[in-house]
Amino acid sequence: MSNLVVLGAQWGDEGKGKVVDLLSERFQVVARYQGGHNAGHTVYIGERKFVLKLIPSGVLRPGVRAVIGNGVVIDPAALLEEIDALEAAGIDVRGQLCISNRAHVIFPFHRMVERVSEGRPDRVAIGTTSRGIGPCYEDKIARRGIRMADLVDPESLATLYRSLAEDKNTTARAFGVGEEFDYDGILARYRAMADRLRPLVCDTAKLLNDAIGQGQNILFEGAQGTMLDVDHGSYPFVTSSSAAAGGASVGTGIPPTRIHGVLGVSKAYITRVGGGPFPTEQDNPAGERLRKAGNEYGAVTGRPRRCGWFDVPLLRYTGMVNGFDSLIITKLDVLDELDRIPVCVAYRVGGRTVDSMPATQREIDLIEPVYEELPGWKCSTRGISQWESLPPRAKDYLKFLEERTGIEAGCISTGPERNETMILPNSALARLLKMGTA
Ligand code: GDP
Ligand code: IMO
Ligand code: MG
Repeated sequence: MSNLVVLGAQWGDEGKGKVVDLLSERFQVVARYQGGHNAGHTVYIGERKFVLKLIPSGVLRPGVRAVIGNGVVIDPAALLEEIDALEAAGIDVRGQLCISNRAHVIFPFHRMVERVSEGRPDRVAIGTTSRGIGPCYEDKIARRGIRMADLVDPESLATLYRSLAEDKNTTARAFGVGEEFDYDGILARYRAMADRLRPLVCDTAKLLNDAIGQGQNILFEGAQGTMLDVDHGSYPFVTSSSAAAGGASVGTGIPPTRIHGVLGVSKAYITRVGGGPFPTEQDNPAGERLRKAGNEYGAVTGRPRRCGWFDVPLLRYTGMVNGFDSLIITKLDVLDELDRIPVCVAYRVGGRTVDSMPATQREIDLIEPVYEELPGWKCSTRGISQWESLPPRAKDYLKFLEERTGIEAGCISTGPERNETMILPNSALARLLKMGTA
């Protein structure tokens, strides 16, 4: 039995959706542990494209139990829209999905708070997805949030909602927000949505622990990437949840002792959406070329993703924080046409090499990346699914990343489709998946 966490090793959009979809074949349960509909996980199955936001990508495998854990924040309207779209595409969402009774609920006024905060003239905007994610987590931590268990209990909802609405009304007045909320109308809409969601809400911590007791395997699907983790990421340019591997335990109620491995998904280069530091960013024709070749536009907001070269110190840092057993390197094919491929191998600040990740934007902005260049392979790797079939220079590039990060590359992705992937037979990843005998 192995319960594994899959999460982003960079700033998100590493290809987690594709990877979870691929691996979920071997798991009975896939569980999301943090984030909300700020996530956009794209999965291609043949001609069909799915973009999953709140629902774990595992739902696309018939029979796999999909769990939204307590660490997730839920906009019921967004969730119902996603359920309806997937059901229209023939997915048995209601037969597979369970939603934690302890997950917190996003309301329209959370988006109002976010607009006020992001738009303040004295504040550098984070460049959020404007989904109300941060303000909902604020209410959770401030102990005034409304949870799914409250949403589906008409009596609790009435009392808690009145108090939260009053709180937000006060905030709106204090900030001179002109927008008038129809608080009664919102409550009525949420009651109607609660009626539809009630059958799916349960104690998912118990469900997951019982599943383990029955010998089932759980795959934890991280949203965002480690550098967007509220504690370990590039604060304050982060999301408001624990995206790193430790969040899997907190966000589902599965003890750390029941988690057996952690897999980091990383692009063969790097991207970021939104504001904040990015040492290897190429805000130039080279970055533009990566964006074009990799079709790097946000799956949720459609914003162009900022692009840059693979960053070894960053991977060493996220590897340390998460304890990656194996890396899954995606989008190798995007580098196919390049003559030379720079890789950042060290950070220097003021002429001195630094071997830890600075904590502040000011310090990160001082980083001068040290690059080594590797020769490109100049031929297509698209769809290759055997290590032996990769061009020698592509193998050298991957071995270089492995050697410099100190983390095994157990899986390589060469296209968006399930079969455009290789899992290396003697890897720790294969062992964790009980595929190999390494
Ligand atoms: P996620 O948020 O980590 O799930 O990633 P996104 O879905 O936001 O972005 C990753 C994009 O890259 C998606 O459009 C995927 O279909 C695509 N993708 C994943 N792996 C590969 C790959 O190996 N090669 C190429 N060309 N595209 C890939
Ligand atoms: P997936 O799961 C990339 C970024 C936003 C912004 C910051 C805070 O697809 O990898 P938020 O709305 O969460 O308060 O915004 O985090 N961000 C993501 N960037 N991929 C994501 O998800 C992201 N989710 C949030 O762009 O910079
Ligand atoms: Mg994404």
